[in-house]
Parts: sequence; C-alpha cells; structure tokens
Amino acid sequence: KARISIAIDGPAGAGKSTIAKLISKTLNILYLDTGAMYRTVALKAIREGVDTSNREQMSKLVEDIDIKVVYSDDIQHIFLDGKDVTELIRTPEVSIGASNVATVPAVRLKMVELQREVAKQNSVVMDGRDIGTYVLPDATLKFFLTASIEARAIRRYNELLSKGMTQMTLEDVKKDIEYRDKNDSSRDFAPLSKAQDAIEIDTTDLTIEQVVNKIMEYVKEYV
Ligand code: C5P
Repeated sequence: KARISIAIDGPAGAGKSTIAKLISKTLNILYLDTGAMYRTVALKAIREGVDTSNREQMSKLVEDIDIKVVYSDDIQHIFLDGKDVTELIRTPEVSIGASNVATVPAVRLKMVELQREVAKQNSVVMDGRDIGTYVLPDATLKFFLTASIEARAIRRYNELLSKGMTQMTLEDVKKDIEYRDKNDSSRDFAPLSKAQDAIEIDTTDLTIEQVVNKIMEYVKEYV
C-alpha cells in the first residue's frame, strides 16, 4: 500500500490532537504530535533557566538537545535526555514557553528535520501549525481546524481541570491562547496559516465524531 500523510493544522484548542489520534487509530497509522516537540524544547529551557524568548540562547540550547519520540501501545511518548517527559510538558508554563521557542528558526529547523524523518519512514497523521505549509507540503491530505476563541478556551480549561491543574481560571486560559495565537500567526518563519490546498473545518459546533467523520469522507479515497 502507498504511504500516506495527513496534515492537521490549526490554533490551540481547535481539536487537532483529539481528532488526529482518532484518525490514526482508524487507519492504523502513526500519529505525530509536533507540538510536543516544541514543548519539550521549552521544558529544557525552563529547567536550565534559559529565557524561552532569547533567540541566541535558544539556538545554542537546541544544538545538542536529545529529543526522542517513542511509541508504546500506540501512544506517543516523548523523551528528553533519556527521560520520559510526556506528562510534564502539559503545563500552562510550558505551553507559553513552547510558543516562544517556536519562533526561533534554529529550533524549528531541528524539529522539522525529526518530523520529516518520521513521515519518510511511516504513514502518518501529523498535527501542528505548519505541517501543511512547511513540514509536509506534499501531504496526501491537509486539514485546517478552527473554532471560536470561546470554544477553544473552554476545551483547554476542561482539559487542564481533568489533569488536576486547577490553578488557572477560564479567563487565564483564554489569555494564554490569545497570546499563542498571536505569537504563532505573526512569526516570520513558518507561521500558523492555512495551506492553500487545506480543507478548513470549523469545529465550534461539531462533536468529535462529526469532525472525524468529515475527515474520513476525504481520507477514504486514499486508503
Ligand atoms: O499544539 P501545542 O499546543 O502542543 O503546541 C505548542 C506550541 O508549539 C504552539 O503554541 C506553537 O507555538 C508551537 N508549535 C509550532 N509548530 C508546530 C507545532 C507546535 O510552532 N508544528
């Protein structure tokens, strides 16, 4: 069977990872969460006391960073310097840090190299901000998920609550998302944007199942 790649881009809280995971399961192909990589770079910076907005220091920090993506029971685990940090990268502090480090070209080039390597070896569903526009311009199919800022904030807020992170208000979460939206869309190198040939889906009023079904309608022609 021919290898396929599905790019799913969009802002935080649009439903990318939930949807991408389900699609990958349905098709029995890999799911690569590229945001986890930028989060891991941010975690390293925070641990080492490096300012995530400092381009020069961030470029240096990624030179010899050891990030590995490992799958166990179909779940993506991410390792930093040999240790599993999959859970540790989900904090609000790391989210903001990730958005900062993601503006640094040296960081992006390093992560994109890893991402392209995965897609070269496997059929994959990849989610992120620049997958359709930059990482996999020749992806089999590209989707761009959006939702209202309110819907996205509520989803992220509930996600944090479900993980026991109760220190942020809904308003805080909304501010963080707005900060990241702005940062991600306005950076010079590979910003968040819809690829010309991407199919846009507004998920505000759709259930997860409805979004998956919509995407599968397109995908089924290729599998
Ligand atoms: O998707 P997630 O919220 O985990 O991504 C964290 C941050 O990583 C985003 O706000 C964005 O700045 C950055 N990112 C990126 N390009 C990607 C994936 C994530 O710049 N392909």
